[in-house]
Amino acid sequence: MTMSMIDLRSDTVTRPSTEMREAMAYAEVGDDVWGDDTTVIKLQDKCKELTGKPAALFVTSGCMGNQLAIKCHTNPAEEIIAEWDSHIVKYEIAGPAFISGVQTMPLKGVMGFMSPAEIVSNIRPDWYHYPKTSLVCIENTHNRAGGTIYPLEDIKKVSDVTREHNLKLHLDGARIFNASVASGVSVKEYASHVDSITFCFSKGLGAPIGSMLCGDEEFITKAHKFRKILGGGMRQAGIIAAGALYAIENNIERLKDDHKNARRFAEEISKLPYVVIDMASVQTNIVIFNTTKDAAKIKEVLEGKGVLVTNDGSDKIRAVFHLDVSSEQTEQAIDVFKTLRA
Ligand SMILES: Cc1ncc(COP(=O)(O)O)c(C=O)c1O
Repeated sequence: MTMSMIDLRSDTVTRPSTEMREAMAYAEVGDDVWGDDTTVIKLQDKCKELTGKPAALFVTSGCMGNQLAIKCHTNPAEEIIAEWDSHIVKYEIAGPAFISGVQTMPLKGVMGFMSPAEIVSNIRPDWYHYPKTSLVCIENTHNRAGGTIYPLEDIKKVSDVTREHNLKLHLDGARIFNASVASGVSVKEYASHVDSITFCFSKGLGAPIGSMLCGDEEFITKAHKFRKILGGGMRQAGIIAAGALYAIENNIERLKDDHKNARRFAEEISKLPYVVIDMASVQTNIVIFNTTKDAAKIKEVLEGKGVLVTNDGSDKIRAVFHLDVSSEQTEQAIDVFKTLRA
């Protein structure tokens, strides 16, 4: 791939800026497995402040954050509830079964969101034939639904349900900053309704590596041990934590630009005869649309014209906007789409 490509495959493809690299190069480091890397400590403290949670653990990836949360909130032979098209169900390779020995009950949501009533009707009664339901996982923003924002009122209702039934609630907030910037709801407010939250520095925030898992002290103490078991103990991790700190300090507000570019792109391509798009789903930086043409072929042709998108084999195409896609490049991508009309 050449650097002139407009890469809309994901917001994970961003490269660290010169300033971010400098912050990383000169970061103070220690040995985080010994717990004395000051930059990791600073990042974890910052994330406690941001989420209002008493404890935070720097982890290698969003997957690791989610899987640690599942491991710490459940016991083997229990069941978790997660949305059918969520990252945990779709892309974490049966991690809950493999790592935690739990079964997943996937519920089909609307725009990625499970209704509280649907959750309640799937909580297992206490009967010796059944696994115990112990955890509900929600995703905000919801990747496969098109970066949709879980409405705060619905999160509150889900939270009421989980508290009432003595279940834990985990939020996969890989893109929680996109949700926060677009909705005006603080990350702290979102986090206040869940027992644990994971978010990523390596997506819209533009850092190369790392995610954070936040929760209460007991939960994070447990997660710390399992992180070690899973090989997630990192030594001079301050180098990458510095990239994450830089991202938090500089790249949150600018997510609005990505949302604006995504909206503009969606509005323009929605006018094309072969594009079917639900504009209501375009709420943040992800645009997912159906096409009446062969989606795999469109992807291939776009690539030949310098625009990279993803297609999962269905009739859907996904385009994601991020800090390495300017408004000029957004216009260029729109122009390329228009040439496909013929
Ligand atoms: C919603 C969501 N959760 C979790 C992850 C996993 O993050 P990672 O790739 O850092 O493991 C992703 C990655 O795309 C995601 O979109």
